[in-house]
Amino acid sequence: FGDGALAGLRVLVSAGPTYEDIDPVRFIGNRSSGRMGFAVAEAAASAGAQVTLVAGPVSLPSPAGIARRLDVRSAAQMREAVLGAAASADIYIGAAAVGDYRPAQVASRKLKKRDGAPLVLDLAENPDILKDLAAASPHAFLVGFAAETHDVAAYAQDKLARKGLDMIAANRVGEGLGFEADDNALSLYWPGGGEELPRASKRALAARLIARVAERYRMARS
Ligand code: PMT
Repeated sequence: FGDGALAGLRVLVSAGPTYEDIDPVRFIGNRSSGRMGFAVAEAAASAGAQVTLVAGPVSLPSPAGIARRLDVRSAAQMREAVLGAAASADIYIGAAAVGDYRPAQVASRKLKKRDGAPLVLDLAENPDILKDLAAASPHAFLVGFAAETHDVAAYAQDKLARKGLDMIAANRVGEGLGFEADDNALSLYWPGGGEELPRASKRALAARLIARVAERYRMARS
């Protein structure tokens, strides 16, 4: 990369987990480190794009060359930041692991132990950021990620169709790949085609993903 394949285009990338607060000291989160999404943002910038990175709670320095970084914590904040930046984005790449659920109520004081009685948390479903983005910015080229533990191809292709995406990058999680790890392996799918990107560093995979996104974007818009 570094070849200007995305020159003149504005790319919006989401990365990392979301944290959904239970009370002032506890939250529900997931194991995303942000590394995959940060590598994608860096590769897009290196390909000449103007990159906005929306980052969940991660401890990573900003990738080289990005134009803007917006730090958020919850899925609701990530949705607001993504939708706020979406109008000017040509391409959206959703690498964040957005929490599907949040506590229905956030306690304003620390919850106390219940002397052996079970604690039941009511969870409310979070909005789907990709779906809302597709409705709000029908012109944008949409790339989703899918993290699965099994039946990766079937679930990914279902998400591609159901969410109306232009491409999906699927990874199997576990076995030292995916969440937190340095390496990953991706299966790319788009309507009518696909490509296997075997195990490699997240930086190397991000460069190959961005090359394919640039090619598919040009084809879709030509
Ligand atoms: O951060 P790392 O440690 O490097 O790990 C990288 C990763 C495994 C987190 C990343 O490669 C990845 O797969 N990210 C997506 C994980 C995921 O949550 O997938 P999903 O199947 O739940 O969601 C599918 C797509 O919908 C994703 O693009 C997601 O951003 C999007 N989504 C999901 C839920 C929601 N409420 N809103 C969304 O936009």
